[in-house]
Amino acid sequence: MADSSYLSMKNITKVFPGVKALDDVSLNVGRGEILALLGENGAGKSTLMKILSGVYGHGRYDGTIEIDGKAERYANPSGAVSAGIAMIYQELNPLLDLSVAENMYLGMLPVKYGNSVDWKRLYDGADGVLASLGIAINSRMHMRFLGAGEQQLVAIARALARDATIMVLDEPTSSLTDQEVERLFEILKKLRAAGKCIIYISHKFNEVYAISDRVSVLRDGKNAGDFVTAEVESDQIITAMIGRSLHDMFPRKAVEFGEIVLEVRDYTVWHQHVDKVLLDRISLSVRKGEILGLAGLVGTGRSEFLNSLFGSHLGRHTGTVLLDGRESSVANPRQAKASGFGLLTEDRRTNGMVAIMDIGENITLPSLRQIGSLFTLNRRTERSIAEGFIGSLRIRCTGPDQETATLSGGNQQKVVISKWLNTEPKLLLLDEPTRGVDVGAKVEIYQLMNALSDRGLAIIWASSELPELLGMSDRVLVLWNGGIGGEFRRGEADLGTVMSLMTGSAALRSATV
Ligand SMILES: Nc1ncnc2c1ncn2[C@@H]1O[C@H](COP(=O)(O)OP(=O)(O)OP(=O)(O)O)[C@@H](O)[C@H]1O
Ligand SMILES: [Mg+2]
Repeated sequence: MADSSYLSMKNITKVFPGVKALDDVSLNVGRGEILALLGENGAGKSTLMKILSGVYGHGRYDGTIEIDGKAERYANPSGAVSAGIAMIYQELNPLLDLSVAENMYLGMLPVKYGNSVDWKRLYDGADGVLASLGIAINSRMHMRFLGAGEQQLVAIARALARDATIMVLDEPTSSLTDQEVERLFEILKKLRAAGKCIIYISHKFNEVYAISDRVSVLRDGKNAGDFVTAEVESDQIITAMIGRSLHDMFPRKAVEFGEIVLEVRDYTVWHQHVDKVLLDRISLSVRKGEILGLAGLVGTGRSEFLNSLFGSHLGRHTGTVLLDGRESSVANPRQAKASGFGLLTEDRRTNGMVAIMDIGENITLPSLRQIGSLFTLNRRTERSIAEGFIGSLRIRCTGPDQETATLSGGNQQKVVISKWLNTEPKLLLLDEPTRGVDVGAKVEIYQLMNALSDRGLAIIWASSELPELLGMSDRVLVLWNGGIGGEFRRGEADLGTVMSLMTGSAALRSATV
């Protein structure tokens, strides 16, 4: 049994102007333990981890941090590293033109003869650490050539090279493929067996159950429950997180569909960088009021398809697009908006919002005409629109005037979603709309999708979370191998069938019969 207080954060309080982000929070993790830290968007998870990792150093918070019974008073991130704490950021900032080994040992490169880098020791050391984790990456390779998942594994190896005992992963899987997630979990299990303390932040319950030993919940900056993972039902965790239970995770109601809004015929989409066809002459259509879901593994071209419809895909595409029965060509996002399209991109941090604007400005940005011209922008209307969304999506903030950059990650996403919902388009394209969003807000987003489809809007969306895709779509198309590998109406398909179509194992099976 692990001693459950190797790391002990006690009575932590952190106040930002206008918000008490953390209020007397305590957290304990033992060696050889993986603790899932859960909570709604804005509950204070990242702030607590910023305190642990020295971003907010001693003196900038109230409370104490003890490691192995000893009080730690580091003032900055390098002090936290010396105390054995490593943050494994999702968007790590690797030095792309340095090797994997150099990235791992940055700031502590082994030297010989007093001043020159001992390359042999560097690469041998790096290879040893990578091998101990079972990571097959050449330590001489430049970081630039690694994918997101591999870069993250290097970040873990880097923590190990620094002898970290406490490792924090804040939503580590959002840009990983399923296979990469599995590999990450194998490595986390090895680290657990080696006696590390691991804190794992996620909004995905399946991950929490797959990897964690205990669950600690924050709500409104306070401790809201501690559980042993194997003994707790997800309902109990949800209730601790949001203070109520969710009766209906997927509240999709049946609606009458109207005429076809969008139809594509023989639509081909190329990769944006290389000369590779992602989707080959696919045809599909969506009706007024219909929610059409696109299932497929990462890399099948779901995002590229949605972006190409919106005129924002950098690669080539060909084919016929009919909008309300008339041939249409959308060459850029401005034309797309004029045609009544809205697109919620997957990468919201870069495409979705203007961090220095406040919430109200961001939400009303694409629909300024609704409020008045750019020059006579009516702040009152802007405020009241923003307040509506802050209420319905439960955006945790001090008000419409808060700068978006200071919101928690999930709440920033809710702002971007509000922005598109507010344009009231004819066709809404949603790429992973619930990524990084807490479970309560997920259901709010489903409700909004319902409300929009009730008003006759057509929605095409992609999600990697199959339960929600199957639960909320009226029809699901499974993309595989450049084409449509299967089509199901709501309730017709089960998870296993869709999964095997996505991975092509169904096609292989029938091919061998
Ligand atoms: N620099 C800052 N200035 C002002 N307020 C901040 C700042 N950083 C965080 N906050 C506020 O503190 C609260 C907690 O934010 P935090 O980022 O810790 O949430 P979180 O639990 O990580 O949420 P998510 O799941 O969305 O990532 C939020 O209300 C947020 O707006
Ligand atoms: Mg966060």
